[in-house]
Amino acid sequence: MNRYALEICKKLSASPDWVSGEEMAKALGTSRVNIARQVAKLKEEGFVIEASRRRGYLLTPRPLFNAYTLQAGLDGAGAEAGELLFFEQTSSTNLEAKRAEAECGLAVARRQEGGRGRKGRAFSSEEGGLYFSCFFRPRRLSPFDSLKAVLCAGLAVTDALKELGFACGLKWPNDVLLGDKKVCGILCEMVCSADEVQRLILGIGVNVNNPLPPELTEAANLKGRGDDLDLNTVAAACVKALLGRIGQLEEDPAGLLADYRAACLTLGRQVTVLGEGRRFDGLCTGVDDDGFLRVRTPEGEERVVTADVSVRPAGA
Ligand code: BTN
Repeated sequence: MNRYALEICKKLSASPDWVSGEEMAKALGTSRVNIARQVAKLKEEGFVIEASRRRGYLLTPRPLFNAYTLQAGLDGAGAEAGELLFFEQTSSTNLEAKRAEAECGLAVARRQEGGRGRKGRAFSSEEGGLYFSCFFRPRRLSPFDSLKAVLCAGLAVTDALKELGFACGLKWPNDVLLGDKKVCGILCEMVCSADEVQRLILGIGVNVNNPLPPELTEAANLKGRGDDLDLNTVAAACVKALLGRIGQLEEDPAGLLADYRAACLTLGRQVTVLGEGRRFDGLCTGVDDDGFLRVRTPEGEERVVTADVSVRPAGA
């Protein structure tokens, strides 16, 4: 990413008024000609910037979603996240994260042609949603900690959406719900050797403004019937929360699990478990220290590792 263009983007975004080209040139230690050149590049990226010889530059406040606006919104967290790979369109950001050269970073796309969900399902990824994969080399996690990483990502998105004013909760393991509708799905993948995780990939899809196929009756977007939301704000909140929770996962997994349990709406509910070669009903009694779901049935307590769980409506 071009450093000058990014700094100009930050300055123009932060100012409701015109910003002089000369001032920006001085502050960035470059020439006015270079400022004009970088502004032209930003315009090619879709920014609407007015230019006046006397007054300088004015950014028209139209929320765009691109590498510059996202990086600017991430502030310090941008450096912590690592390389930012931004795609207009790609098959899947998880695939981009797998083949990225950098050790850690974010692969973000405006839309995905082959968005992937858990258990080989497709994930609808039309423009207007937030699709990104955070990848890194964990310092302390073993392949056996993968479920905790999944819970960590779901909890982070829940934190972020709550901060933005949405009363979200989690359905074990990591569907983020608004009311009883799914607004976010997470696909965690790993590149491992026998005993070490070389790359952890947390792929996150949030339904923000994107239209959803009518057959997805159990999903909703955040926009609801209101105005479009700014994807930069949602993305920055999710990435910042995710980085915080990843730190907690490595330093204080017990604290992370305690916070997860507090946000998990599946606890204490009657559930139907389907998968791992079986189907049964029971009462969800907890999430254990490995992140597995505990379900009490008349035959005893079951431990659920990867199965799908549906929460039965109250009174059913
Ligand atoms: C699920 O609900 O089954 C998980 C959906 C995960 C979707 C995200 S979108 C970003 C990343 N890229 C993908 O192809 N999948 C994940």
